[in-house]
Amino acid sequence: MSGFPYSDHYEVHRTLPEDGTGRAEILAMMTDMSSRENPAWESGQCSGTMYCGDHEHYNFLNEAFANFSYVNSLQRDLCPSATKFEAEIIAMTLDMLGAGAIEGSRPGGLVTSGGSGSIAHAVLAYREANASRSVRPNMIKPETAHPAFSKAGHLFGVEMKVAPVDPVTTQVDLDWVAANIDAGTVALIGSACNYGYGTVDSITELGQVALEHGIGLHVDGCLGGFILPFGRELGYDIPPFDFAVPGVTTISADTHKYGYALKGTSVLAFADQSLRNSQYFYLTDWSGGKYCSPGMDGSRSGGLLAATWAAMVSLGRSGYSRYAEAIFSTSAAMQAEVAEHPSLRIMGQPSFLFSFTSDDYDVYLVNDFLRTRGWRLNGQQYPNALHMAVTRPQTQPGVVERWANDLADAVGYALAHHDEAAQSGAIYGGVAGGMSAEADEFIRAVMADMMDGQASIPAP
Ligand SMILES: Cc1ncc(COP(=O)(O)O)c(C=O)c1O
Repeated sequence: MSGFPYSDHYEVHRTLPEDGTGRAEILAMMTDMSSRENPAWESGQCSGTMYCGDHEHYNFLNEAFANFSYVNSLQRDLCPSATKFEAEIIAMTLDMLGAGAIEGSRPGGLVTSGGSGSIAHAVLAYREANASRSVRPNMIKPETAHPAFSKAGHLFGVEMKVAPVDPVTTQVDLDWVAANIDAGTVALIGSACNYGYGTVDSITELGQVALEHGIGLHVDGCLGGFILPFGRELGYDIPPFDFAVPGVTTISADTHKYGYALKGTSVLAFADQSLRNSQYFYLTDWSGGKYCSPGMDGSRSGGLLAATWAAMVSLGRSGYSRYAEAIFSTSAAMQAEVAEHPSLRIMGQPSFLFSFTSDDYDVYLVNDFLRTRGWRLNGQQYPNALHMAVTRPQTQPGVVERWANDLADAVGYALAHHDEAAQSGAIYGGVAGGMSAEADEFIRAVMADMMDGQASIPAP
């Protein structure tokens, strides 16, 4: 029992309670839990994950959600509002991603359950659109592209060829990509930006290669899709990555990240609706009636469409731009503090998300110390590195100053302990030689714990 979080505060339910618990008691319990958990990110010391961080905004979205939370958006005769919300989310996203520049085709989109959902639907669409080929389909992804591509390849039987990246720029090796296209290659992949380093692949060049071979190009804008367009407009040095680039055929852009919507939505944008339509599923001879659904989900809450639409329409272009300016300038200030320390090295040319390593000591020593000051960075490997995805909580007054001060102390600690093993590196640093039996066992245990409640998962 003690392995269940909060078991020392609240009853653990292993069976349905015989009689229902009062609503007021349940809500009070939840308010207590969330108010214990929120300070960890409200301080601005947590990388990524809480993109907006504004409780008034969340309350507004929760109200929008509540109006349609119980509606099944599959039953459109009962909820024409869902079509308004979904179609407008897609149209606004396509416009933001430069679909107006596409000539000779009709752009379209899908609203999915998140970044992995958008990526999975893209992989499925490329597979289905090329089903007539007699060879097994494959796609080429930069090593830095999100694991969701490999997961989708695993699920749908599409091979993921992994292209190396330049160790200095962290961008995909274009020569390798071009040399490894074969009869089964249905699409290339580039990130704008990638999760690890916040860098943008050379999308223009990838687009050229894709066009030369008559194959697709998916741009993963799950993280950057809703902030990079505004960063570019503001004059930040961001290479072109959207539908204005010839050859780009799909883009994933997460509304539940820098779109500032509630968790559970993303948009997969298509340069041409025919690619989207290739992955529809329908069963017309089922005894239960004729069945069709646009994506992998069946029933979906109308509340998520409503709240996502509400986030986009309430912020508007000026709202997204204002938030982007604050985030980009905060990231630049935090990066400047990293650059103050000769023993730290920033990886590539980052954007709002930056990553740093050290050639002088294990950078996880820096993490060990920063954790004692309440910072929660994301750990990386090959090489060991730490990243900070700057979100709105970091833009609060005082956070950059705290970063400067705590980072300086952390570097001092790392220099003084450079010959010692880092504690956090043991879990999050590189597994020497790749996957080991111990690492596999540890990962399975962590996943089981999430479902079975036996232990709590350590923060990176
Ligand atoms: C670049 C990138 N792509 C895809 C994803 C997957 O998104 P999700 O976690 O919403 O499935 C992420 C998540 O962080 C990401 O950063």
